[in-house]
Amino acid sequence: MYNNFIMSKKFYIETMGCQMNKSDTERLEGMFTELGYEKTVNDKEADFLLVSTCAIRQTSVDKAYSQLGVWGKRKKNNPSLKIGICGCAAEIDKESLFKRMPYLDLIFGTHNIFKFPEFVKRVENDEKVCEITNIPYPEPKELKVNRQNTVGAWIPIIEGCNNFCTYCVVPFTRGRERSRMPQLIIAEAEKAIKDGKKEITLLGQNVDSYGKDLHNSNITLANLLRSLNKIEGKFRIKFVTSYPTDITDDLIEAVAECDKVSKFFHIPMQSGNSRVLKAMNRRYDREQYFEIFNKIRNRFDEVEITSDFIAGFPGETEEEFQDTLSAIKELQIDYSNTAIYSPRPFTKAGKMIDIFIPDEIKEERFQRLHTVNCEATLNSNKKLVGKVYEVLCECQKNKKGKMMMNARTSTGKLVHFPSDTDLTGQFINVKIVKAQTWCLYAEIV
Ligand code: SAH
Ligand code: SF4
Ligand code: F3S
Repeated sequence: MYNNFIMSKKFYIETMGCQMNKSDTERLEGMFTELGYEKTVNDKEADFLLVSTCAIRQTSVDKAYSQLGVWGKRKKNNPSLKIGICGCAAEIDKESLFKRMPYLDLIFGTHNIFKFPEFVKRVENDEKVCEITNIPYPEPKELKVNRQNTVGAWIPIIEGCNNFCTYCVVPFTRGRERSRMPQLIIAEAEKAIKDGKKEITLLGQNVDSYGKDLHNSNITLANLLRSLNKIEGKFRIKFVTSYPTDITDDLIEAVAECDKVSKFFHIPMQSGNSRVLKAMNRRYDREQYFEIFNKIRNRFDEVEITSDFIAGFPGETEEEFQDTLSAIKELQIDYSNTAIYSPRPFTKAGKMIDIFIPDEIKEERFQRLHTVNCEATLNSNKKLVGKVYEVLCECQKNKKGKMMMNARTSTGKLVHFPSDTDLTGQFINVKIVKAQTWCLYAEIV
């Protein structure tokens, strides 16, 4: 009873970047809660502020640092406020951040998030803590994960990357590939399903590498999917991201045979031109990517394949860029994440200064890439019109006075349909009646 009268301290975490960072945040939130902190969604009332950063492009880093600047000013009026930074940008700038941002109390990297409770205790004792190591701190056997308020659960299966694509900073921020033991993953998935989650998304920078570092030929992504598929209950399983040439026939077969696994592959191509792919150190050319893509397309009656592309890689010519546009059109890629090339520290491409593409050309190429991507996405959505799909309802929203459900097809397409009843967390059959670029409209059948 007495405890009820003690105000618990509040934490706020701002998360940038990919699902891996979002998953890290769920774990950090769990640890904060175990320490007696309460979560707030209003940074103004927090006692402990943390930003989980992304370094994939310079804009992400700039965004994180400007957020810290705002919090730093707030500390002038509230000296007991604690401010921390973690994630991929922390791995790059390390302790130099203390000089740049003297108001920081805590800097830690992606390898030691499980040491977080110790960091918080030290910061509470007014110590300035900076810990960036490349030796992973072991994961505790029992870990509380504060899952976000969504119908699905993200479960990391492999951390880091060994590929060293010449544009990418991830191998320098997340380190080398480290797979989690299958027992841990299965136990986490079972718990999530027991807690009512309806979708498991397996995460990794390169999920197809899963198990390679565990030196047991039975531990593969395909076999992990088969094990997860046996968990009782109605739910879906997805996995992201795949590296084109690492997708095995066994993985494709596992996706085909497991009824709970979504028929969905995210396979970034990055460029449609073979010379550029080589300069990017991607281990395939245009023809090989096409082969893999078509092999998957032809194996399923219906499958969604999405991709990522970069516009304006150093030295990319106009003709080479057009190969990217034609790849999207020829393959009819269902959806792509598109980005303007951003030079990154430590990377090979980041040093190719004399062949950098001017900003205005990069921008102009990006606009054309965006347009072609939108057309391909709309075409892909149009194919669903008139058909019935089972969708997973995510939340109810009031749209102009009408109650609408937001739901997703098993391949991740966003579907809106009218429903006065809140169907969040339920699987419902709907008929698609209209397609737009970023969503589909449907009605319950
Ligand atoms: N492991 C995944 C992608 C991880 S990073 C893969 O191999 O595809 C997510 C995406 O960010 C990449 O697919 C790429 O398209 C983009 N990206 C990475 N580095 C970038 C850079 N320097 N500039 C612009 N986009 C970049
Ligand atoms: Fe980056 Fe390439 Fe690794 Fe993907 S595969 S995380 S793009 S280095
Ligand atoms: Fe960004 Fe790190 Fe993810 S750089 S995309 S948060 S792995």
